Amino acid sequence: MELRNVSIIGTGSHVPETIITNADLEKLVDTNDEWIRSRTGIRERRRLAPDETVTDIAIQAARNAIANAGIDALEIDLIVAASMTADLLFPPLACMVQRGIGAANAAAFDTNAVCAGFLFAMVQGTQFLQTGAYRTALIIAAEGITRYVDYSDRNSCILFGDGAGAAVLRASKGGGERTGLIDFDLGSDGSRVDVALCPRPTAPRQWLDTLTAREEVTPYIWQDGRAMFKAAVNGMTDSVKRIMARQGLGPDEITHLIPHQANLRIIEAIGERVGIPTERVALCLEEYGNTSAASMGIALDKWMRLGRIKPGDLAMFTAFAGGLSWGSALFSM
Ligand SMILES: CC(C)(COP(=O)(O)OP(=O)(O)OC[C@H]1O[C@@H](n2cnc3c(N)ncnc32)[C@H](O)[C@@H]1OP(=O)(O)O)[C@@H](O)C(=O)NCCC(=O)NCCS
Repeated sequence: MELRNVSIIGTGSHVPETIITNADLEKLVDTNDEWIRSRTGIRERRRLAPDETVTDIAIQAARNAIANAGIDALEIDLIVAASMTADLLFPPLACMVQRGIGAANAAAFDTNAVCAGFLFAMVQGTQFLQTGAYRTALIIAAEGITRYVDYSDRNSCILFGDGAGAAVLRASKGGGERTGLIDFDLGSDGSRVDVALCPRPTAPRQWLDTLTAREEVTPYIWQDGRAMFKAAVNGMTDSVKRIMARQGLGPDEITHLIPHQANLRIIEAIGERVGIPTERVALCLEEYGNTSAASMGIALDKWMRLGRIKPGDLAMFTAFAGGLSWGSALFSM
C-alpha cells in the first residue's frame, strides 16, 4: 500500500489571561526569581480563572488552528485530544471540542501520554491519514495543570502552567516524494512509573503505597525532579539521534528543534548533544512554563506565527513524559 503524505496545514494556541509571576510564587513558597530563572528558564506561567475550563481553552486553540488552516470544521474527519487534566472523566475532551467547533463529521477520542501527549497524538492521527482512511485530522492538547499543583511544594509549583495548542493535519497523494511526516520514534518504560505521578483523588490506597513512600495521599503532581531531569535529557537526545541516524541527517540539515518545554536547561542540554544551536530551537517556556501536553503545540504555533518556519524546512519534534514515555517526529513543513 502506498502511504499518503501527511502535512501540518494549520496551527493554533490559546492560554488563559491570568499570569502567575515568579514574584507571586515567592509569596507562597521559599523561592526567588533568580533561582527559578537560572534553574528553569521560567519567568511566568498562566492559570485558568475559577470559572474557566480546559474545554474552553481547547476549543479556542482548535478554532485558531482551523482558521489558520483555512478549512471548514465539517471537513475534519478525526479529532484526537491529548490531556491529563480534562474537565471530565468522560465524555472525552475530543468530543467536548467537537461540540464546541461543530465538527459533526469527525470521530473523536482522547489520548494520554502526559507531557508527550501532543507528539503521540500527532503520530496517532497521522496513521489514519497515511493509510487513506481519513483526509483531515485535528490534534489538540490542552491542560489545566495548575489545578493539580501543590502550591506548598517548591520543587514543582514553580514549573507548571495552563494552556492549549492545536494543529490541523491533512493527507495528500504521495506522488513519489515524501513530505510532511518523514519518520517517528516512540517509546515507554513502565518500570519507572514512580519518577513522576499524580493520583486521582479516588485512587486506591495500594497504588500510592506501591508507587511512593509518601504517608499522605494528595491529589497533586509529585516528581523526583533530578531523576526526571536526567531521564528527559537522555531520553529525548537518544530518540532524536535514532531518527537522525535512520534518515542519514546531520544536525545542520535539521532546521528547527521543537521540544516539550519542561526546563530550559533540559532543552539546552539536548540541543548541545544533538548539535542544534539554541537559535534554531522553538521556545515558549519563559512565558508559559511547562504546560505539559500543550507545550509543544504552543511552541509550534508561536514559531509559525513568527514566520520562522518556512515550507520545506525540516522540523524535529521531541518530547518526554511521566510514564516514562518519550518520542520524536521529523516533519518536512
Ligand atoms: C525540579 C527542578 C527544577 C529542580 O532543579 P535542580 O537544579 O535539579 O535542583 P535540585 O532538585 O538539585 O535542588 C537543588 C537545591 O535547590 C532547592 N530548591 C528546589 N526547588 C527550589 C525552589 N523553587 N526555589 C529555591 N530552591 C529550590 C532544593 O531544595 C535543593 O536544596 P539543597 O541543595 O539544600 O537540598 C529540576 O530538577 C527539573 O526541572 N526537573 C525536571 C522536572 C520535569 O521535567 N517535570 C515534568 C514531569 S512531571
